[in-house]
Amino acid sequence: MHATFTDEFMVSVEGLVKYFPVQKSFISQLISRKREYVHAVDSVSFQIRKGKIHALVGESGSGKTTTGKVTVGLIEPTSGKVVIDGRDIFKDEVDRRELRKKAQYIFQDPNSSLNPRMKVGQALEEPLIHLSDATKQERKEIVMKMLEDVNLSPAASFYSRYPHELSGGQRQRVVIARALIIQPKYVVADEPVAMVDASVRAQIMDLLITMQKRLGLTILLITHDLAVASYMADTISVMYLGKIVEQGSTEQIFSNPLHPYTNALISSVPVPDPKVKREKQIPHGEVPSAIRPPEGCRFNPRCPYRFDRCTREVPELLELEEGHFVSCFLY
Ligand SMILES: Nc1ncnc2c1ncn2[C@@H]1O[C@H](COP(=O)(O)OP(=O)(O)OP(=O)(O)O)[C@@H](O)[C@H]1O
Ligand SMILES: [Mg+2]
Repeated sequence: MHATFTDEFMVSVEGLVKYFPVQKSFISQLISRKREYVHAVDSVSFQIRKGKIHALVGESGSGKTTTGKVTVGLIEPTSGKVVIDGRDIFKDEVDRRELRKKAQYIFQDPNSSLNPRMKVGQALEEPLIHLSDATKQERKEIVMKMLEDVNLSPAASFYSRYPHELSGGQRQRVVIARALIIQPKYVVADEPVAMVDASVRAQIMDLLITMQKRLGLTILLITHDLAVASYMADTISVMYLGKIVEQGSTEQIFSNPLHPYTNALISSVPVPDPKVKREKQIPHGEVPSAIRPPEGCRFNPRCPYRFDRCTREVPELLELEEGHFVSCFLY
């Protein structure tokens, strides 16, 4: 059989939109009955090839986590489509249990994603109880093997520890192990190193890369840190206020950044070495509200190159070189 074009992709997101209704007080409702929405994700599309890492980068509030959660079915989109391994996950014939086996989410905060009263061994066994047919004996073997795989060794010593008896880096290894234990095909890693000490960040990134290669995983890496994206990702989407402003290979994004926002982000990362701690800098100006995003290009109020058209029309995402897309009227 011929491989079709879509067979290359594990994940395909098309025109994804997510608006959250704004909770209003009783009085504000009386003053204005108009419903307001947070435009968290507004028409986002990207694809991830099988066995590759795609990064979503952008400042806080740009819609990265919302996008990631929709892609594993944790949040229903307002509109748009998500295809995982050839199946549209929001069509009803996709079984929730099957989806959880296939697509896992590593949450932003490892401290709140582990139950403090559950031992490491139990935490890792839990997904196997719900999502696999393994016997008790087999589950124990799988857990011990996984502990060794994520370098929590000797496994027996970590098996019976509680989360508070671990370092931040070890806890993040447990969180990663738990997401991978049922051998998913697709994993969203939401800020996997943001909460760990700078000294162990490189180790955690290397662990994810090693596991990804070993298991042939496809990963959506969510990070506000361009250095992390450059270290780990094959391809990158730069998000700003719910929209993708630039997309391309990691090489294209770093060697030839096109969008003024991407440029600003990159110039605020002087050392492309994730092991080096540095001050976080962002382009001048505040990120506007996602409830009333700016007219035209959403970046225009902060853009040094803004001209008239930018305040009126939304630029399309155009392919300027093969696989390299930008949404900006400068091009
Ligand atoms: N459940 C929700 N209800 C209402 N608004 C939400 C909800 N979840 C997210 N938002 C809003 O949607 C926008 C995008 O949030 P999101 O968490 O996806 O951004 P992010 O890029 O992951 O940011 P961060 O880097 O801070 O994690 C923000 O304005 C946020 O306040
Ligand atoms: Mg987030």
